[in-house]
Amino acid sequence: DAGDIEKGTYPHYMLKEIDEQPAVIRKLLMAYQNEQGEIEIDADIRAAIDQSDRLYIIACGTSYHAGLVGKQMLESIAGVPTEVHIASEFSYNMPLLSKNPLFVFISQSGETADSRAVLVHVKKLGFRTLTLTNVPGSTLSREADHTLLLHAGPEIAVASTKAYTAQIAVLSILAVDIAEHNGMDIGFDFTKELSIVANAMEALVDQKDVLEQMARDYLTGTRNAFYIGRAVDYYVCLEAALKLKEISYVQAEGFAGGELKHGTIALIEKGTPVIALATQYHVNGSIRSNVKEVVSRGANACIISLEGLNEEGDSLVLPEVHDALTPLVSVVPMQLLAYYAALQRDCDVDKPRNLAKSVTVE
Ligand code: G6P
Repeated sequence: DAGDIEKGTYPHYMLKEIDEQPAVIRKLLMAYQNEQGEIEIDADIRAAIDQSDRLYIIACGTSYHAGLVGKQMLESIAGVPTEVHIASEFSYNMPLLSKNPLFVFISQSGETADSRAVLVHVKKLGFRTLTLTNVPGSTLSREADHTLLLHAGPEIAVASTKAYTAQIAVLSILAVDIAEHNGMDIGFDFTKELSIVANAMEALVDQKDVLEQMARDYLTGTRNAFYIGRAVDYYVCLEAALKLKEISYVQAEGFAGGELKHGTIALIEKGTPVIALATQYHVNGSIRSNVKEVVSRGANACIISLEGLNEEGDSLVLPEVHDALTPLVSVVPMQLLAYYAALQRDCDVDKPRNLAKSVTVE
């Protein structure tokens, strides 16, 4: 309950929770390390994954967006085939399942009814289940075979921030643990890279004035906004758009850069805000071409890029982190942009209209 958690000197829980993200990442590194300082998760969970032939991630809202990033990590780091589904869709439109699926529920609250409905259903079918949640003892944790905790501390603001980055961090830990126990060489020092991520997040939350100004430059008085990215940046754009929708009520969409030309570019007119994310080497050129396309149609566009891929004129350059972990860092300015856009519109940042922190009805 919000009553027990202090905002301290913060005007809003959301801002406090954004700021807590580097500490949560450091806490997770401790929580999932063994005495030798190696990443280690519960052996039963590892066994459940090894025995399955496919993971089915089930989640809603922000947790679903974390699942999309997690799929990328599980497949590219650990070679574990993974699908991600919106809980409320899965219930009524179940895909063909593999022989030995493992269901992975991602839920900050552990109480979301849509996700629980899937859990109850797949348990009846006799399948194994794992829940990633921030709340020990929550319904989804109690009812699943296994739990991995997010260790993010209570999240009070309706718009999820630190739970999203904690979910992605735990999914990356899971991927690395599986890979290493299967004798795969992941090719980088994961604990070191995750510490670098925490430092990068810290550097970004210290640039609030920059993001406040960017919100003024790009989101003032607009009725819509587009976030574009490719590869994993696209998934972060989905979350960036959700953040803006939830708390500022600006109609926002996250789009895959290459898909714009197949319809959405028709919406671009003079002054339409387009915020592009460029953190991935292999799509850096193509996302920048997309930005040129929208600019030539009058868009008020900006680029947030990763150090090393940056070019002159980029509005914000993110500190360099390993390319498998960029979502943990690139989402931070997106959260702050949404926060300041909402503030500038006098919206109730922590308690947006029509939304609840945890939705316990289907
Ligand atoms: C609600 C919240 C969202 C959240 C979603 C899933 O709609 O407003 O912020 O992402 O539920 O919640 P969960 O607790 O399952 O992660």
